[in-house]
Amino acid sequence: MADTHPDPPQRPLPDAVVPAEVVARTEKRWLGVMVAMLAVMMAVVVLTGITHAIGPPSNVETIDPTTLHLGGEFAESNLGTAQELDGSHTVRLVAGQYGFTPDCTKVAVDTPVKFRLTSTDVIHGFLLPSTNVNTMVVPGFVAEVRTKFTTPGIYRMPCNEFCGAGHHGMWARVSVVPKEQFQSLAPTERSSCVQQ
Ligand code: CUA
Repeated sequence: MADTHPDPPQRPLPDAVVPAEVVARTEKRWLGVMVAMLAVMMAVVVLTGITHAIGPPSNVETIDPTTLHLGGEFAESNLGTAQELDGSHTVRLVAGQYGFTPDCTKVAVDTPVKFRLTSTDVIHGFLLPSTNVNTMVVPGFVAEVRTKFTTPGIYRMPCNEFCGAGHHGMWARVSVVPKEQFQSLAPTERSSCVQQ
């Protein structure tokens, strides 16, 4: 149909076409709703970060996954729970299809614990239910999470990133024991739950 209006941008709109002012007003309102939603989500991230010590999992520390076993921090003899001079624990774990090494480690209750993890193959997950511990374990990077257990017991740690056919069976444990009991354990007993 030929356009007969002398000034096409000003010609009357056909029925059912929403006028520009109404569109602009509606878009402004939705913009307001979106900004408010973003603000709420940011507030949730910041508040949970402060109140539950949940933070970004990786400190962007890189490591060569092909030489983990040859030496350095994640050599087999260095895995499991180590006691630091200030009394805190550092737990080093290696995730690989389909298990964690070691598959059970002990820590003392009411003691700051720093988990340091890396992967030999694909992305795995490390989660301790009812704690703030939940991180991805990415090959080539070291994931670090800090926590403190206030209740003794066995904490099961499932791999929570799909990592292949055996993913559902990739479980390990952290055994939280009373402080005196931990101190009486030999270093090898601290990184194993096998009864000796
Ligand atoms: Cu490892 Cu899923």
